[in-house]
Amino acid sequence: MPARPNSVLLNTGDSMPLLGIGMWNVDPKDVGGSVKAAVKAGVRCIDCAWDYGNETEVGNALKELFEEGVVTREELFVTSKLWSNFHDPEDVEDHLKDSLRMLGLDYLDLYLIHWPMAFPKGGAKVPEDKDGNIIYLEITLSETWKGMEKAVRSGLAKNIGLSNANSKMITDVWNDATIKPSVLQIETHPYLSQAKLVDFAQAKGMAVTGYSNLGAVARSWAMSDEPRVLQDEAIKKLASDLGKTPAQVILRWLVQRKVAVIPKSTNPDHIKENTEIFNFELSDENMKIMDGLNRNYRYVAFWADKPVDGKLVFRDPNCFNFPFGLEY
Ligand SMILES: NC(=O)c1ccc[n+]([C@@H]2O[C@H](COP(=O)([O-])OP(=O)(O)OC[C@H]3O[C@@H](n4cnc5c(N)ncnc54)[C@H](OP(=O)(O)O)[C@@H]3O)[C@@H](O)[C@H]2O)c1
Repeated sequence: MPARPNSVLLNTGDSMPLLGIGMWNVDPKDVGGSVKAAVKAGVRCIDCAWDYGNETEVGNALKELFEEGVVTREELFVTSKLWSNFHDPEDVEDHLKDSLRMLGLDYLDLYLIHWPMAFPKGGAKVPEDKDGNIIYLEITLSETWKGMEKAVRSGLAKNIGLSNANSKMITDVWNDATIKPSVLQIETHPYLSQAKLVDFAQAKGMAVTGYSNLGAVARSWAMSDEPRVLQDEAIKKLASDLGKTPAQVILRWLVQRKVAVIPKSTNPDHIKENTEIFNFELSDENMKIMDGLNRNYRYVAFWADKPVDGKLVFRDPNCFNFPFGLEY
């Protein structure tokens, strides 16, 4: 198949669109509108996950789009993710098939290990003991990766990758893998440029997708006083100088670094606006201004997802497979 337009080449020979739409925090009743508006505006990548609880609704929207002849299955690039209760390599295929059943598809373009941490199966999505401590299973990513490779051999996933992994985890999986990871998906926006990790992954031939590009304001623990990338004065000035919006400048800065973007939106005007990032360029000087905004600020920290009195509680920095224990 010829490379998709505005895409990044994967180490499998496949191509992944640089622009997609994210499905986290999209209410099931809004999914159809979001997916259909995005695909009709030219978006070809849909970033889903079992954990988001809306894959059935994504599947319903895709079915309608296929029936209406708006897009073919081959033109789309659909991603889903393995949740942490299913890291036992024996569980990977069944869990993937559950996503496929809900999505109404017979293969995924990309399957990612959502988070490095493994939890026991059969209970809560994030199981806790009576004291509120998360219960972990000691399964390495390399062990889980064997199940991911099996899914490729069975034709259930065309590409496989990691999410929320650092350079140490990537190296461990890479060294043990028969099928090397194609994609790394990580939080990336102007306040978390991830320059070293992006360089590290791209140098290995992995494509990088950035998530929460616009600051993830729809998440449940967003705080009113947190720094907001869309409100950043330097970005607003750049946008006004270029006749673009802050969102377009942020997304352009990322795709110009060959980092794919997957902004979430249920607003058709925003969705269309987010597609208009391939008709302009940021100068080297403007790229440097954007690079300089980094402050290593995370909006999505798994271990810090409990706000108490308006502050995030860092609840388990020593867990097995702690994702951010290294510098990058
Ligand atoms: N791998 C992982 O662990 C992981 C973690 C987090 C996220 N993700 C993926 O990344 C996707 C995106 O990240 P995210 O959902 O955290 O948030 P995001 O894309 O940073 O931000 C989404 C928010 O930005 C608003 N927005 C979108 N376009 C806009 C525009 N042009 N102007 C102004 N506001 C705009 C949206 O509001 P409207 O809806 O009103 O437009 C929404 O509230 C997720 O949906 C998910 O697919 C993956």
